[in-house]
Amino acid sequence: MPLPVPVLAEGVDPAWLPPAAFEPLGTRRTLIRGSGPMVETVHGEVADAVARFGGRVVRDPEPGDGMSYDLVLELTGASGDEGFACGRQDGTTTVTASGRRGLLYGLFHVVRLGEDAFRGEWAREVHQPAAALRMVDHWDNVAVHPVMGQVERGYSGGSLFWADGRARGELERVRAYGRLLAACGINAVAVNNVNVHRTEARLLTDRIGEVAALADALRPYGIRTHLSVTFTAPIVLAGLETADPLDARVREWWARATADVYAAIPDFGGYVVKADSEGQPGPFTYGRSHADGANMLAAALAPHGGTVHWRAFVYNHRQDWRDRTTDRARAAYDHFVPLDGKFADNAVLQVKHGPMDFQVREPVSPVLGAMPRTRLALELQATQEYTGQQRHVCWLGPMWSEVLRFRPEAESSVGESAARGGGLVAVSNVGDDPFWTGHPLAQANLYTFGRLAWQPGADPGRLLDEWIGLTFPGASRRLAAGLHAVLDGSWQTYEKYTAPLGVGWMVQPGHHYGPSVDGYEYSPWGTYHFADRDGIGVDRSAATGTGYAAQYAKPWSEVYESPDTCPDELLLFFHHMSYGHMLHNGKTVIQHIYDTHFKGVTEVEEARETWASLADLVDPARHARVAERYEEQLRSAREWRDQVNSYFFRKSGVADAHGRRIY
Ligand code: GCU
Repeated sequence: MPLPVPVLAEGVDPAWLPPAAFEPLGTRRTLIRGSGPMVETVHGEVADAVARFGGRVVRDPEPGDGMSYDLVLELTGASGDEGFACGRQDGTTTVTASGRRGLLYGLFHVVRLGEDAFRGEWAREVHQPAAALRMVDHWDNVAVHPVMGQVERGYSGGSLFWADGRARGELERVRAYGRLLAACGINAVAVNNVNVHRTEARLLTDRIGEVAALADALRPYGIRTHLSVTFTAPIVLAGLETADPLDARVREWWARATADVYAAIPDFGGYVVKADSEGQPGPFTYGRSHADGANMLAAALAPHGGTVHWRAFVYNHRQDWRDRTTDRARAAYDHFVPLDGKFADNAVLQVKHGPMDFQVREPVSPVLGAMPRTRLALELQATQEYTGQQRHVCWLGPMWSEVLRFRPEAESSVGESAARGGGLVAVSNVGDDPFWTGHPLAQANLYTFGRLAWQPGADPGRLLDEWIGLTFPGASRRLAAGLHAVLDGSWQTYEKYTAPLGVGWMVQPGHHYGPSVDGYEYSPWGTYHFADRDGIGVDRSAATGTGYAAQYAKPWSEVYESPDTCPDELLLFFHHMSYGHMLHNGKTVIQHIYDTHFKGVTEVEEARETWASLADLVDPARHARVAERYEEQLRSAREWRDQVNSYFFRKSGVADAHGRRIY
């Protein structure tokens, strides 16, 4: 039986799968061959489209039925292969896959192509995801956390999965979410926050049924479910007196608990673990290494085909700002690189893209090039914690693409090694908001992430246009160009009016929205800019600084070591520079700060105008939501500009060369 397409509640935005995007497919005659649950999912999609648009769908006809088809979708096997082949000859487009998910991805490929899928002739092309794991991690709490709320760093309303301590049970919406994820190539979801509090800990044991219900809803769209667990689960859930990873009882407990998880969810993906980090417990308590901790969980998961995603976000968050010997940027490398080669085959080390924490500009984490014998996953943040919290437009595709293309060593790019190793992960930006992502244009971030995980070398601008084409089917040139204009470049715009030249962290402490130049300057979190009357920035050189630059292989260790070769955009990350220092771009540091802050606000004003000019082309609810957020973005950008410029004017006493208003 074909699986019905999930029905969206009134007012919920179809995001990049509006019915109209299926029109080219829906008017055609389609033949589907093969068997198994995923074929039913695909059949359901095509059946829904043809019911709307008047085409036809036929399933496994008798040989020689004499019919001709515009589209043939054929599953030839039942492997785990996710690729598909697609070509067009003699008026028929053919998609074949030997693995279940491949057929689904082939179908969505046809949807993406639109009318082009049915034009002309083209040779068979093979499409294969670069990374086997393409995951979103939800930082969703089951119970509302007193400080972090329902979703930690969530800017899209509540959680799709949980509300007030319970499973929401809105499985139709979860199914619809799975469908959106599949359509951009994502195949795994972690359903709870990496900070695992008391209630959430129980998802592993007596509340596993609630996770199983989510897994059932997501499975038809090829998505495996993962769970964040607490390292102290044996203590908090079973009353053992230790969680020592080398203790036999502890290991046995995990093995049993994991077997029970698989009894409930046979295709369970595995665990995500934040250990010895920001107050979460871990192996250090028992004098064990992170490899010991990860390998214990890997051993429990191995018989069932599961993976542990062990996070490398480990650093001292109780630092003294007076202590110049500790550098947070160094921490992940110092902790983990000595463990290279010690992790089990089904243990993946999940590394944030930068050494700090998802700032608008950071260098690529040196860990990503320094552990050739470890499976590394790259962690990105789709939720815009430090990039405007979905009140600002900040399309992160170009930033992610830069990270993925970066070559920490000569052999491979970050994208290639993550794809080969543990995969690509994004912290989700989705909640129960009718637009899924709060800001309707933030949908482009999730879509782009999924597509980059499939093809890390893809041109992000092309993916943006793909998202525009799907989300606004039949968009006029003016609309498509307007959407492209307000999104493309929005990351650099955000960078301009916030923290300059890679320095980071000039945000309000705690919630991380809006400017506070010294907000984290004297805090225990290891996040300092060291601005004084003469200059600003952190000396991370090997010669005179913290030595962080030396964590890179050549050429990067040399490039970053000297201000002469360090790229402007990272200069203050690596060096403490005088305000009068001349950048490669021909401006002094202080003039660059003034200029970018004025320019960033101007760019927001222009984007807001562009958006206003599209009012007649965008549905009113979406247009209004974005317009309202632009008002806030502009207010906030001006606040950023004026606080940052005033701060540095007061520190340095250097006037703006253009005499603009600084307070
Ligand atoms: C950031 C974020 C936290 C989160 C942490 C993590 O520090 O502010 O809310 O828990 O990252 O990635 O674990």
